[in-house]
Amino acid sequence: MTQDIASLDAPDLPVRDGSNSRKVFVKTYGCQMNVYDSGRMADALARDGYVQTEDMQDADLVLLNTCHIREKAAEKVYSALGRLRDMKKERAAEGREFMIGVAGCVAQAEGEEILRRAPAVDVVIGPQTYHRLPEALKRARAGDRVVETDYAVEDKFEHLPATDKAKIRARGVTAFLTVQEGCDKFCTFCVVPYTRGSEVSRPLAQILDEAKKLADGGVREITLLGQNVNAWHGQGRNGESLTLGDLLYELATVPGIARLRYTTSHPRDMDDRLIEAHRDLRVLMPYLHLPVQAGSDRILKAMNRRHTAAEYLTLIERIRAVRPDIAMSGDFIVGFPGETDADFEATMALIKTVHYAQAFSFKYSTRPGTPGAELGDQVDDAVKTERLERLQALLFEQQRAFNEGCMDKEIDILLEKPGRMPGQLIGRSPWLQSVNVDAKASQIGDIIKVRITGTGPNSLFSELVAG
Ligand code: 5AD
Ligand code: SF4
Repeated sequence: MTQDIASLDAPDLPVRDGSNSRKVFVKTYGCQMNVYDSGRMADALARDGYVQTEDMQDADLVLLNTCHIREKAAEKVYSALGRLRDMKKERAAEGREFMIGVAGCVAQAEGEEILRRAPAVDVVIGPQTYHRLPEALKRARAGDRVVETDYAVEDKFEHLPATDKAKIRARGVTAFLTVQEGCDKFCTFCVVPYTRGSEVSRPLAQILDEAKKLADGGVREITLLGQNVNAWHGQGRNGESLTLGDLLYELATVPGIARLRYTTSHPRDMDDRLIEAHRDLRVLMPYLHLPVQAGSDRILKAMNRRHTAAEYLTLIERIRAVRPDIAMSGDFIVGFPGETDADFEATMALIKTVHYAQAFSFKYSTRPGTPGAELGDQVDDAVKTERLERLQALLFEQQRAFNEGCMDKEIDILLEKPGRMPGQLIGRSPWLQSVNVDAKASQIGDIIKVRITGTGPNSLFSELVAG
């Protein structure tokens, strides 16, 4: 029998430590957007006196920032909540406050259902409302069980405190910056249009302001985020329409920012201006995550991707014509309903044509509420497993080949953080590979020239180039 732990929760338990600050442990699941959101939720809570802790045992509030993209990701949340329920029981016996919040896409998709399945949860808060988190916690402390999953009319970014300089520094020399949220594409397998809502772009001025603050805090590389980032659109100073390419030209002028990236893009939104940006802007790194999902036109149609495999390949040719060294990355789904052996071979053929530097691949996972869930002709799990293994072996081989192609080259890396060995740092290549090098911790944030001396499947080894 499950006990309703919430009923044991006394409002206004004394705050535990002498520093008079509550501690929050944030666990992030899923995509980079969630990493960014977790940071901003921590900022919102800081205004309320919460400090972040890396130790769950030390926390007064555990916030799970969740992912709903595949069934496995969502199920992880419920097993974590089972463990938290036990912690809450122990804390209640000690008379200590312990609150549990569920944020992110599972919160948005399941709302009240989470409180039913996991009664120990105090607050359920969707991605569009996380600026209301302090208020929600206050209500929970007064005995309410709070579900905040409406699409707020106010702009959450206007209501969030800016990240302070010390925190920016502590978070490192690379940063994410959300410029766009939501998706109107409605691929038939995907929950994002339902969990993150329709496409919304942040205004240019707000983005530039955040980028300048990040640069002031020591950030050298910014990755622009959006579920459909290249659908970003805005207005220029004279009212003219802007797209992501224009935004990149603007951000390229921010002093201190040496590198720009963006993710994730849809092939249909790769417009001419964005391709020009890849041609003209040296700060725009030669790496493009451009998911195609499948290589069969029949499956692409069933997925509602609204382009063919040939159109995707032509697009890549155009990008490579202006930026020959661009590293391609992508996402693939195997076993979409109705996928035959021939359809799968078409995906393999497309991969062989593109030569990916890196890619992510998944078995199709049925998501309730999506059109894909209504389709018959589901592919057997054993078939999905076999196809995924073959596809991943090919992608792994291409990644290894791409990394080996870097051998003996002199490249610029941005030094990001300490490595595993003393005296070693980890840097990032223009093509997003991790690069180990012997360097001093004081050099973190510098861009240095190195020669690649060794390659592995997931990282490179290098030595400093003198001068
Ligand atoms: N099943 C499997 N993979 C999925 N993705 C999105 N929805 C599903 C699903 N239902 C993958 C796509 C997308 C990536 C973020 O996750 O490849 O690009
Ligand atoms: Fe999902 Fe398709 Fe939108 Fe990407 S473009 S978020 S896969 S619906």
